[in-house]
Amino acid sequence: MTDLSHIHRFVPGNRHGATPLLLLHGTGGDENDLLPLGQAVAPGASLLSPRGQILENGMPRFFRRLAEGVFDEDDLRRRAHQLADFVNDARNRYDLPAPIALGYSNGANIAAAVLQLRPEVLSGAILHRAMVPLRDPPAVDLAGKPVLIVSGQMDPIIPASNAERLAVALAKSGADVQHRTLPIGHQLSQADVTVAQQWLRDIEFAKDAAA
Ligand code: MLT
Repeated sequence: MTDLSHIHRFVPGNRHGATPLLLLHGTGGDENDLLPLGQAVAPGASLLSPRGQILENGMPRFFRRLAEGVFDEDDLRRRAHQLADFVNDARNRYDLPAPIALGYSNGANIAAAVLQLRPEVLSGAILHRAMVPLRDPPAVDLAGKPVLIVSGQMDPIIPASNAERLAVALAKSGADVQHRTLPIGHQLSQADVTVAQQWLRDIEFAKDAAA
């Protein structure tokens, strides 16, 4: 689909009450990449999967960077707002409640930035291999938003201290953060799927119990 701001795929769900997922790919990925992960993590949920609008040497990304792990923060802020606007437009088009973002690497980083800049568009986030996106984020109220951060102990791109700083910052803003570190590297693994599936089941169970 191309007439919203982002090229994207939308896969309608068939499980009543399942929170939709906003799938955000890593550098060099596209809107097709994370559909199998989304289906595995949240069977039957609607999936909304945009493609990042930046090209770095032909590889799609969600925002510009100056070097690996060094972000162009002006661009990141602008792109995070554009992505938030896309989510709002797509929610109207497809009649969706606020999604949980499921992002990997570059996609996890913009998801964290959207949480800090436009928290109302997401109902939570699953961040695989995320790092601190903004050096100086605005004060934000994330009270009650569930966030899962899944880091890799052997990740050569993201220092453990950086992922931990993100977890602490989001928790200080009130998010209900769970930070898991797996004995793996930067690539996604089956363990990512299992951890995210279990976390989401717990979240949905708690939501149903509270309803
Ligand atoms: C980023 O640029 O968002 C991070 O360096 C991770 C990556 O996409 O390689």
